[in-house]
Amino acid sequence: MIDFREKLSEEVSNNVKDLTSEEIKELVEIPPNYDMGDYAMPCFRLAKKFRKSPQIIAEEIVNALKGNQYFERIENVGPYVNFFVNKEVLAEDVLKEVFDKKESYGATDVGKSRNVIVEFSSPNIAKPFHIGHIRTTVIGHALYRIYKFLGFNAIAINHLGDYGTQFGKLIVAYKQWGDRDVIESNPIPELLKLYIRFHQEAEKTPQLDDEARMWFKKLENKDSEATELWQWIRDVSLKEFNRVYDMLNIKFDSFAGESFYSDKMPVVVEKMEQKGLLTESQGAKIVDLESYDMPPALIKKKDGSTLYITRDIAAAIYRKEEYDFYKNIYVVGSQQILHFKQWIKIIELMGHDWAKDCIHVPFGMVSLEEGTMSTRAGRVVFLEDVLNKAVEKTKEIIENKNPKLENKEQVAKEVGIGAVLFQELSNNRIKDYTFSWDKTLAFEGETGPYVQYTHTRASSILRRADVKIDKDVDYSILINDEAVNVIRLLQGFNQVIIDAMEKNEPSFITRHITEIAKAYNRFYHSCPILSEDDDIKKARLLLTYAAKTVIKTGLNLLGIDAPEKM
Ligand code: ARG
Repeated sequence: MIDFREKLSEEVSNNVKDLTSEEIKELVEIPPNYDMGDYAMPCFRLAKKFRKSPQIIAEEIVNALKGNQYFERIENVGPYVNFFVNKEVLAEDVLKEVFDKKESYGATDVGKSRNVIVEFSSPNIAKPFHIGHIRTTVIGHALYRIYKFLGFNAIAINHLGDYGTQFGKLIVAYKQWGDRDVIESNPIPELLKLYIRFHQEAEKTPQLDDEARMWFKKLENKDSEATELWQWIRDVSLKEFNRVYDMLNIKFDSFAGESFYSDKMPVVVEKMEQKGLLTESQGAKIVDLESYDMPPALIKKKDGSTLYITRDIAAAIYRKEEYDFYKNIYVVGSQQILHFKQWIKIIELMGHDWAKDCIHVPFGMVSLEEGTMSTRAGRVVFLEDVLNKAVEKTKEIIENKNPKLENKEQVAKEVGIGAVLFQELSNNRIKDYTFSWDKTLAFEGETGPYVQYTHTRASSILRRADVKIDKDVDYSILINDEAVNVIRLLQGFNQVIIDAMEKNEPSFITRHITEIAKAYNRFYHSCPILSEDDDIKKARLLLTYAAKTVIKTGLNLLGIDAPEKM
């Protein structure tokens, strides 16, 4: 596509003595609104070099320029040189590119032959998969898709919480009070009941805690009974989680969770020992991080068992060896910021310069209107229920508004789930928020269904027009404000994806496609598309096709479907 910044720099450097195009490019800015031009070049910084006032420099530059086909106007306002892009050239450039590239418009191969790990979701087995997991799951999945689209070899990892002393407790509880059939009929709630019961009983009978420690030790030593029970708990839990992943169309490349690293830790602890990082503290092994203003990290308990943080250290080292990653991304809540800082520091202290490529992407907490979520107090909203309710509500709306729609079930799924995802991906990642059913199920305003609806509107026009979309159109028809607004947004799509990738912030894309939808709807209302005039119709249909295509790509990057009808 045309790089207008480049064209601008050429024009200036060709006609003005003593200014290189590099210098110019550094100066160029995007003005706050288009009335001031598409690009502006402030001349303040040139005053010293030319020994003139910025205003005079700007005037002289404008006078020296010959003008070219890329800009319809170049003028100075005070110390600024303002460049107005030729709208016809812009329209032709952008729309031809979308037409040629179709659904890969906006993609580049910046990521070619680079492995990027995106670790996300990572729930704990035997525990509910609840609304608190929605953000890691949905943001992580979007990031995975964004990296892929930009040519990275993205690897989705689910670091399941499938290890730790709590499995000792669960085994003890199961052996005392559990029933296999009851659990299999309703795994997570039943396992949770056992877990809660364990804690209640352990208050009266502290020996239970010793037993639990013993069973975890057995698990670490690969005792067959412990392993069999653990495997079964893992299997039934994963079956539950997979139902949600299926609804969201999420596929992981690996479910190597915490347990996967159980036999990889001794070597790692040994390495830390050799590097002189470990100190004894009351029989346990810790890494003192005081000089980095952090509390010590407990690596190995007195009884020899390892911890969450030890497994993260082992996992990162394993991943570097296995995938030689360019980035190793962790989409995990902001409560764990310290945890990540600690272990990434330890990796660095072990002498691994790739510690800097391990990136924690934190997000704010979700709480409920009735307070923070608590599994033990039963104050928990299951993710699956949220998705199902959204689909139910969408079904009702369809029954009311469009009962003859084909594939009602499928569309209700795509729109209902899309609504939940879109709302989740509109929030700035780092902000805390309170979950509300009303907000999640609101379909008015700048929501997922609104953007999806715009996509179906464009699809329907293209169907009704029943002509072959062609890129040989009269682009001078597409220079009115309503058309140009859409075209400019389409032009900026690739940069938005790159920004989203660099900042690990999918909400940039959510916002951008909302803007495209709004701009397209304004265009639709002010410019009749299926007009009598053939040339007008052809040009506006091409714009419609381009807007539809980019909206769809944007939704798909977020993990959201774009139905043709709704
Ligand atoms: N299972 C953990 C939890 O639910 C999240 C795991 C995050 N990933 C990691 N590598 N520590 O809190």
